[in-house]
Amino acid sequence: MTTTSASTTSTSTSTHWQKTSGIADGFDAYDDLPERVIGYPAVFRALGVGTPSVRTVLDYGCGPGKVATRVTEAAAGARVIAADISPRMLEIARTRRPHPRIDYRQIDSGKLAFLDDDSVDAAMSCYVFINVPELPVLHEIAAEVHRVLRPGARYAVLDTNPATTGIRFSTFRNGEPGRTYAPGERRQVLLDQPGGGEPLELIDHHWPRETYVDVLTEAGFTDLTVAEPLLTDLSALPGAAPAEAAHPPFLIVTGVKK
Ligand SMILES: C[S@@+](CC[C@H](N)C(=O)[O-])C[C@H]1O[C@@H](n2cnc3c(N)ncnc32)[C@H](O)[C@@H]1O
Repeated sequence: MTTTSASTTSTSTSTHWQKTSGIADGFDAYDDLPERVIGYPAVFRALGVGTPSVRTVLDYGCGPGKVATRVTEAAAGARVIAADISPRMLEIARTRRPHPRIDYRQIDSGKLAFLDDDSVDAAMSCYVFINVPELPVLHEIAAEVHRVLRPGARYAVLDTNPATTGIRFSTFRNGEPGRTYAPGERRQVLLDQPGGGEPLELIDHHWPRETYVDVLTEAGFTDLTVAEPLLTDLSALPGAAPAEAAHPPFLIVTGVKK
């Protein structure tokens, strides 16, 4: 992991979630306020989290378990299978966010070997696609999620919005101001850290909205919806005019397994 000031042009390689333990800890320390207020609630609504038909939720790329924990809070009785490729992320999740209704699992070779076909009521991947440099891997992820969802279940993918790169949001900046990015190109992300020190720098990958639509469609998802929610309650984020009220910080693409 490298850290850098916001004005530095990054030449780093992709964020290596499996090998660089400091990144997992830095991500866990990041206060995901805009995600909490705008992004994750929109994902939960899109999936029907909290409704009687959604009892088992897959959090694919669960990281330190923050989102899985919020699912348990939003849906009494729902069970979460929270899976990730990073042993350090799973260690943080199991240590800091254990929960009787969350089952943390290691993803090996891209496979959810611990889940049967048609066994899950809803699935999400938050900030996972932007961490994948290769398009074929995105297709593999979507196909594997499609396999384990029951017919009629929904899959929601949330990422930082490829249409709002360079904008300084309340707690992060996704991409550098004035730059445009090609599909798959490395893109610097800066996440604020507690205490106002140097931000955590991650190197994501730029995927345009069409990539999300194509990947979910090719996996067999139908009835796709694309959401770019804005902040509606201005008092929920700091500052007199949070950028999130004018520029959508997240892209959420949702599809249904037929
Ligand atoms: C930025 S974190 C997001 C964690 C969590 N979803 C959240 O929103 O707080 C990205 C996570 O995706 C995981 N990840 C990256 N590539 C992955 C892949 N190919 N399959 C599964 N997880 C992956 C990383 O290990 C990391 O935990």
